[in-house]
Amino acid sequence: MPDQDLRSFLAEYGESHPDDVTTIEAPLSMAEDITAVVWELADRDRHELLRFTNVGDKGTTVVTNMFASRPRIEHMLGAPAGGLHERYEDLAAGAVAPEVLEDGPVLENLIRGEDLDLNALPLLTHFASDSGPYITSGIIVAEDPEMGRGNLSYHRAAVVSRTGLATSLHSRGDLWRMLRGAEARGEPLPVAMVIGAHPLFMLAASARVSVDERDIAGGLFEAPLEVVRTPAYGIRVPASAEYVLEGTIDPADDVAEGPFGEFSGYSSDRSTRDLIEVETILHRNNPLWVDIVGGNSNEHLNLARVPREAEMIRKLRERFATVRAVHYPNSGAHFHCYVAVEQQRAGEARQIMLALLGWDPYLKTVVAVDDDINLTDDSAVLWALATRFQPDRDVFVVDGLPGSPLDPSSSVDGSTARMALDATRGADFDAIPIEISDGAMERARALLDG
Ligand SMILES: Cc1cc2nc3c(=O)[nH]c(=O)nc-3n(C[C@H](O)[C@H](O)[C@H](O)COP(=O)(O)O)c2cc1C
Repeated sequence: MPDQDLRSFLAEYGESHPDDVTTIEAPLSMAEDITAVVWELADRDRHELLRFTNVGDKGTTVVTNMFASRPRIEHMLGAPAGGLHERYEDLAAGAVAPEVLEDGPVLENLIRGEDLDLNALPLLTHFASDSGPYITSGIIVAEDPEMGRGNLSYHRAAVVSRTGLATSLHSRGDLWRMLRGAEARGEPLPVAMVIGAHPLFMLAASARVSVDERDIAGGLFEAPLEVVRTPAYGIRVPASAEYVLEGTIDPADDVAEGPFGEFSGYSSDRSTRDLIEVETILHRNNPLWVDIVGGNSNEHLNLARVPREAEMIRKLRERFATVRAVHYPNSGAHFHCYVAVEQQRAGEARQIMLALLGWDPYLKTVVAVDDDINLTDDSAVLWALATRFQPDRDVFVVDGLPGSPLDPSSSVDGSTARMALDATRGADFDAIPIEISDGAMERARALLDG
């Protein structure tokens, strides 16, 4: 049962995986330097957890890239290699309500009134194309009287005044629905933004499900999430969070927001232009600043898609015994999905793709392949498409569906079409893949390795 403190995780991981943590002590600016380091490392196929100990004038410690590697997420969950999705779903199924504590480290410092100035927070600018510095790891907690439950979701946020944060609810998930409820009641919606918490809490927060993700965090921890109540609205937030910003969103407010470098790989100003009016800042002593790398970084994509892939695999397997694997490739942002099928009946792959396109609102293209294709290898999937697929026979398109407004090719409100490509072999397929015997390969290796 893991300790729920981010700092305990960092200490444990640094000890158990020293080669997978890089600490950079050189002074770096708040603008772009950290993103550039992450991008350069990724070009070298390096995805380690990063700690920068001297960022900006105040020498802030920034922790980032925590979710950039799937093996690291396996470690967080205690999953065996290759067993990420099953382990996530097993743990998430044990969802349990949080436990309220009287006190916790996040209550060590409380700032409100005249002393409150959001400009004092160490926000980073991620891309040259961004409108300015952004909070990228902010998880908004809201508790809704009508839904009868709470919700966690990530929302980018920029400081627009001493107390104002501009944010966007463009994914139109539960928080957006809660805000519509508040609008109908003519009330502002109380919210608390968590910045920096244990990675299992952060992973749970990215699930797009109709369950209070704090309960899922409890499932992942195998123990109730330890929470304290925020001072003004009593919102239950992780007791050992690094920062919590508490306030309200008034549905009537409208504030300019963006552009910001999004998971699509584009700088986007498509935004719902919401304003969080912050009343209280809570933070620990010597708080760490946790950043999520913006853009279509491994970290940003992994964080959202690991819970998504796990959910899709579970749902598909409940209905279709022939599904072998599901993978959302980096190259597709969140818009592509590959599914491996051991097809037993004609049309089965098409039906499976219909299910995926119906369940996941972000998906635009699904490719079904046979289970001899390695889904994590884009060129293998494209080879199947090149050799097992006929455009007049193996494609179908459904149009006029709600999708992601962050896809620049969609309409401004995110309407999109979806496409299924069936690159499975089909009953009449009789081509024989080329083969090299194991013996010949072993001799080649011996020859080349000396
Ligand atoms: C790192 C990260 C950043 C995100 N930023 C935003 C954002 O700025 N605005 C938004 O509407 N959704 C954003 N999302 C997506 C929502 O957090 C996600 O769709 C949410 O969990 C919706 O689920 P829910 O319906 O359970 O609330 C982000 C997701 C991740 C992982």
